[in-house]
This record gives sequence, structure tokens and C-alpha cells, in this order.
Amino acid sequence: MIVVFGATGTIGKPLVTALLAKGAQVRAVTSNAANIQALQALGCEAVVAGFDDAAALEQACVGADKAFLVTPAHLDMRSWKANVIKAAAKAGVKHMAVSTGLGANPKARLTFGVWHSESQELLKESGMDWTLIQPTYFIQNLLWQADSIANGVYLDDLGGPISWVDARDIADVAAEALTGTGHAGKAYGLTGSEALSGADIAALLSKATGREITVQAVSATDSRAAMVTGGMDGETADAMVELSGLAPKGYLAGIENTVQQVLGRPARNFGNFIAENTAAFAR
Ligand SMILES: NC(=O)c1ccc[n+]([C@@H]2O[C@H](COP(=O)([O-])OP(=O)(O)OC[C@H]3O[C@@H](n4cnc5c(N)ncnc54)[C@H](OP(=O)(O)O)[C@@H]3O)[C@@H](O)[C@H]2O)c1
Repeated sequence: MIVVFGATGTIGKPLVTALLAKGAQVRAVTSNAANIQALQALGCEAVVAGFDDAAALEQACVGADKAFLVTPAHLDMRSWKANVIKAAAKAGVKHMAVSTGLGANPKARLTFGVWHSESQELLKESGMDWTLIQPTYFIQNLLWQADSIANGVYLDDLGGPISWVDARDIADVAAEALTGTGHAGKAYGLTGSEALSGADIAALLSKATGREITVQAVSATDSRAAMVTGGMDGETADAMVELSGLAPKGYLAGIENTVQQVLGRPARNFGNFIAENTAAFAR
């Protein structure tokens, strides 16, 4: 039995599907009881547990030998991850894969790098086997601005090339890590196979929609304000802006070959994602 925490999210949803397709027994965890029925309809068990509810987290792990953990980017993400790691170890889980972020390590000098690294180190010290899933920016973030793109504008709050990764590739690597062999003790940095700037993405969108999509640069101040307006706490928004500040320097453009190495196939690409979702951008 593999328990998936964060099962309704950007990574968790395709991960549940990928694990079920491999024939694994899956228990999906949600904080919202309204999601239970839809999760069960996929063919998995589904239980409710909030990241703050130690007893429910432990109960969610009973009888499971493996687990996957992702939380939203949030001020409480470190305590949430610590709660889940503690609960899983207590319940007897043997191997956990945790999704963090590319470059997270104890020497990281970025806030997100430090936050993610803390969770990674806790997992390593937990006594469970561990696998670190470390993605860069998700291609799926593009859907956050579908309305703006439909109005002809791609909002670029990064200002430099990014080696975007498809969340389905993150899920596929996590599924392999939890069902295949030889993945314990590994850290998998995940990117796509090309680095694209805002202008590159606008060109792909223009081609796919047959309309001119222009790029509009978004300042760090406006980007932070938008995140806070959208419900993010200020400290996490600051961490997001700090991370995106690396893009103009070219530091977020590095390519990792991990998807190919782990899955034996190339990473999905941005152009294909746009093609699959053209309807969302062409309303
Ligand atoms: N987006 C990017 O470009 C990017 C890049 C690199 C790294 N990351 C990292 O990836 C992570 C986000 O991954 P994601 O997008 O897959 O996550 P997500 O979709 O934001 O969240 C995963 C799930 O967590 C559940 N959840 C929220 N609050 C909860 C709570 N209090 N208790 C229990 N469950 C709760 C939600 O499901 P329910 O509502 O069903 O409970 C949600 O579907 C973050 O750590 C972020 O730093 C993101």
C-alpha cells in the first residue's frame, strides 16, 4: 500500500493515476472530505487527514509500506512535512519519497532551498528509506494565467530562461521511485529538456492559438502583491520572489537528464503541453 499525501494537487493527482496504472494499491489523502468520492472513483482508498492532525496522519499510514509527500508552498510547509514524516515513521512506513525543490540542500542560500532542505534532512533522519524528488518550475503554472493569455498577454514574472518541468513527469518519476528498485537514498533533480524565456513561451502560445500573444514583464513588487492578493502569506511570497530573482541571471536554466535516466524516455515539453491545453488559452 502506498499512501499519497497531497493527492489532489498538481503532482499528487497524476501520481495517483500513475501508481494505479502500475497496479499499485493506493491510499490518497486529502484534507477535504468533499474530495473522497472522486478519489475513490479512481480506484484507490481515500482518507481525510489535515497536515496538522497528527492522529489522522498516523492513521492514514497504518498498513502502508510506502508513502509520497508533497505540501503546498506555505509558511507552515516545514511543520506540515515534519508532522507527516513523524506519523509515517511511527506507523511503520518503510520508504517515503518527498517532493521539495531543485537545488534544496543544507548549504542552500535561498529561503525555499533552506525550507525544503530541512524537510529532506528530517526524512533522512527518520529511519525510513528516502527518495528526494526535486523539481524546478512546473509547466502547469501556465494554467494560473489562462485568462490573461486568452486576452492576449503572457505575464512574465521571471525575466529569464527556465528549464520548466511537466508535473506529470514529476509524478512518473515519483511513481517509479516508489514501485521500482534502486531508488532509495537517491535525490532526483527534475527539469525539462529545454530552457524557455517568457518570449519563447509567448511565441509558442501565439503559434498554438493562431493569435498574437505578447509578453508583459511583471515586477517583483507586483508579483508579490498578486501572490498575497491570491491568498499567499507574505513570507512565502517573499521566498517566491527571491527564487524568481535567480532567473534573469540564468541560474534557473540548467538541464537535468533525470527524467530520461529514471524513466527511459524524454521529458515532456512545453509546446506539447500548450497544444494539449489550447482551449484554455483561446477562449
Ligand atoms: N509550482 C512550481 O512551479 C513549483 C516548483 C518547484 C517546487 N514546487 C514545490 O511543490 C510543492 C507544491 O506541489 P503541488 O503544486 O503538487 O501542491 P499543491 O497542488 O499546491 O497542494 C497539494 C495538495 O495539498 C493539499 N493540502 C493543502 N492544505 C492541506 C492541509 N492543511 N492538510 C492536508 N492537505 C492539504 C491539497 O489537497 P486537499 O485540498 O485535497 O487537501 C492540495 O491538493 C511546494 O512545496 C512547492 O514549493 C513548486
